[in-house]
Amino acid sequence: MRTVAITNLKGGVGKTTTTVNLGAGLSLKGLRVLLVDVDAQGNLATALGVRPKRTLYEVLVDGKAADQCIVEARPNLDLLAADDTLMSAQPLITQRPDWAHLLTRALKPLSSRYDVALIDCSASLSVMNINALMATRDVLTPTVVEPLALRGIELLERQLQRIGSGSIRCIVPTMFDGRQRQANDLLASLRGQYGRIVTEPIRVNVRLSEAPAVGRTIYEHDPRSRGALDYAQLVEHVATMFDLRPSLSAVMTTTPAPRERARYDLPSSQATAYTDRGFSQNGAAQGSPEAPLFQGTTHEPCPSCKQPLEQTVLAGYRIRYCNHCHYKRQELVQGVRR
Ligand SMILES: Nc1ncnc2c1ncn2[C@@H]1O[C@H](COP(=O)(O)OP(=O)(O)OP(=O)(O)O)[C@@H](O)[C@H]1O
Ligand SMILES: [Mg+2]
Repeated sequence: MRTVAITNLKGGVGKTTTTVNLGAGLSLKGLRVLLVDVDAQGNLATALGVRPKRTLYEVLVDGKAADQCIVEARPNLDLLAADDTLMSAQPLITQRPDWAHLLTRALKPLSSRYDVALIDCSASLSVMNINALMATRDVLTPTVVEPLALRGIELLERQLQRIGSGSIRCIVPTMFDGRQRQANDLLASLRGQYGRIVTEPIRVNVRLSEAPAVGRTIYEHDPRSRGALDYAQLVEHVATMFDLRPSLSAVMTTTPAPRERARYDLPSSQATAYTDRGFSQNGAAQGSPEAPLFQGTTHEPCPSCKQPLEQTVLAGYRIRYCNHCHYKRQELVQGVRR
């Protein structure tokens, strides 16, 4: 399991949005993804439209196994949630000599169950964030493209050096407005300073700000939006950078989870829309009613091994893949709405 902390000491820069949509995108690629919320605001559960009965508090304070507190938020996408009880956990756990390593220890038994864990941090160097940084070497930093935000990255780097764990592997410019000259100039200087670890920007997109309010990922809310396209590109970038390989069996089948299966606390019309667009009850893909598409073996040969490609549709994406060499390609079913 590759563990990545999604952090920035500045608030409101898109950490949670990135965690949700990067995680959901990786799960759509067939990776087994765990999202961990170490922010007492508990925004991950809200953004995914789930209300878990148990949270990280039970793991860190009551000593429950993390596995017992995880919910399946979507197929291949599990959540270890947080809520405001996490605030009262912090003074309790700092009394322990090993307080900084409690999350590392809690996640260890899960390492064979997931391909990747993404930890959504709060905007401070709190006890929980230090736990998150101790659990991983890899930090992904979303940032808005503004002068003060860029100085915040330097501050984060210094703090990471101070605590001696984690380094920034990836900087994701968020809420980027290419019409603003200052934003373009700052993006250029960010690239000048940090080079190739700066990804393509996530453009400002109102659909991204609407999605958490209705408990949906951007791929569910509007798979044709700029936000969905930008996050889909980030998914590919991160998968390549961390060498995350999808287990294709997880795309096609879902074994019944032994853990709590989250109820999506959405109005029933929305819950149905999600099911109709994405998955049947056993987790296999279904075509969207707007775009009935052939699923199964295609006539297209795999570019790598020449075997016929399989095709399926997940949450607005058409996925073609090879069962022999694990080649895979995904594209939006209905093109991008600009
Ligand atoms: N690309 C975008 N375009 C438009 N709105 C966005 C975009 N990314 C995030 N937002 C919105 O900006 C707000 C802040 O985003 P988010 O909650 O992800 O930030 P955060 O860094 O997790 O904040 P906090 O520090 O409070 O945890 C949210 O309302 C979110 O919907
Ligand atoms: Mg957040």
